[in-house]
Amino acid sequence: MNDPNAPSSPPELFTWEFATDPYPAYAWLREHAPVHRTRLPSGVEAWLVTRYADARQALADQRLSKNPAHHDEPAHARGRTGIPGERKAELMTHLLNIDPPDHTRLRRLVSKAFTPRRVAEFAPRVQELTDRLIDNFATKGEADLIHEFAFPLPIYAICDMLGVPREDQDDFRDWAGMMLRHTKAGQGGGPRGGVARSVKKMRGYLAELIHRKRQEPGDDLISGLIRASDHGEHLTENEAAAMAFILLFAGFETTVNLIGNGVYALLRNPDQRARLQESLAAGERGLLETGVEELLRYDGPVELATWRFATEALTIGGERIAAGDPVLVVLAAADRDPERFAEPDTLDLGRRDNPHLGYGHGIHYCLGAPLARLEGQTALATLLTRLPDVRLAVDPADLRWRGGLIMRGLRTLPVEFTPFEN
Ligand code: HEM
Repeated sequence: MNDPNAPSSPPELFTWEFATDPYPAYAWLREHAPVHRTRLPSGVEAWLVTRYADARQALADQRLSKNPAHHDEPAHARGRTGIPGERKAELMTHLLNIDPPDHTRLRRLVSKAFTPRRVAEFAPRVQELTDRLIDNFATKGEADLIHEFAFPLPIYAICDMLGVPREDQDDFRDWAGMMLRHTKAGQGGGPRGGVARSVKKMRGYLAELIHRKRQEPGDDLISGLIRASDHGEHLTENEAAAMAFILLFAGFETTVNLIGNGVYALLRNPDQRARLQESLAAGERGLLETGVEELLRYDGPVELATWRFATEALTIGGERIAAGDPVLVVLAAADRDPERFAEPDTLDLGRRDNPHLGYGHGIHYCLGAPLARLEGQTALATLLTRLPDVRLAVDPADLRWRGGLIMRGLRTLPVEFTPFEN
């Protein structure tokens, strides 16, 4: 069965209403035009793939390249993975913009430094950061959970992991804040010049830090990236800088949205929230773990996977895609496909059969998934345990969503709770 709220005619995409709730439009597309050619707000024409089976197949299809050079648009329309300032050549060598064999080589090298073990060792630090952020607003009885919690946590966490000294981390917070405002995609975001300056400063800082860590290596991820070798091969300084940047970029707004969308979904589904609180109070972790996966499926941070371009003519879901056409896999639509998920519009934190595409699929599957899981689980568990009566402080209709093309997340999340002294 498809969504009964789905509109009966082709939906208008990329409007305010769509940014607030894209799911009825996705239900229509899945049913009537599962592989749909549309004009994006930028003017570029692209295919949207919305059914789960097609989406999964497209994500693994090697004929769909990540390299924007395959796009037969004019040069000004190239360089589109949604990363501000990424047309700069030095940033183009990151994982989301390249294909095998370069991708295979770089990913293998990075995976040697960014290991699940390193992430696991980092758990106490994520807990400490989470508690410190909650301490900052605990006595007020109110907070904006995006700005005071979901936004700073991932940026401090990834800075710590990379080895950015604590005294410099607020600079990163400010630069990242500028980039986050930019992704409001023409809806009142920060000035473009400010974004370009922030990206430039961040890049300059990272290049210098890599240079320093080469002289004086430490036990951090940047030193690990410099040290990582595979059959005698190492990352060049440029590659290491691009990699540090992509880790920051890919791991930042995604995690902000995981926490923001996740808390919001729990506040809108009191039965599920109570279920999770009871399970946490009993000292269990199982529901927290399946719950974070379900929140990724239900309202994930990445609405559309990053750009792909057809290297040759091919067919997806019966539609003929021409060589050079951009293809956007709509993860948020695929993850609500009733052909794959039972009661897809229902949040069920205990859902077991949940092979969601929130982290992508295939060779570009999210490298940071273990870190995202750690942050998401720590943030939600700590928040619900320390602020047991946390509730929305505004009418949901007054909340605004950031309507960027790739990400989906709230601009603010005002909440109230019983204040407490630390
Ligand atoms: C790739 C989602 C957090 C680093 C991806 C992709 C998705 C994704 C969907 C694949 C994109 C595509 O195929 O076009 C998410 C979500 C996150 C998250 C939902 C949070 C909940 C992180 C974190 C990091 C990270 C914390 C690192 C610190 C990466 C990298 C890639 C990637 C490096 C590129 C991998 C490759 O191309 O081989 N992520 N991500 N992500 N993610 Fe994440």
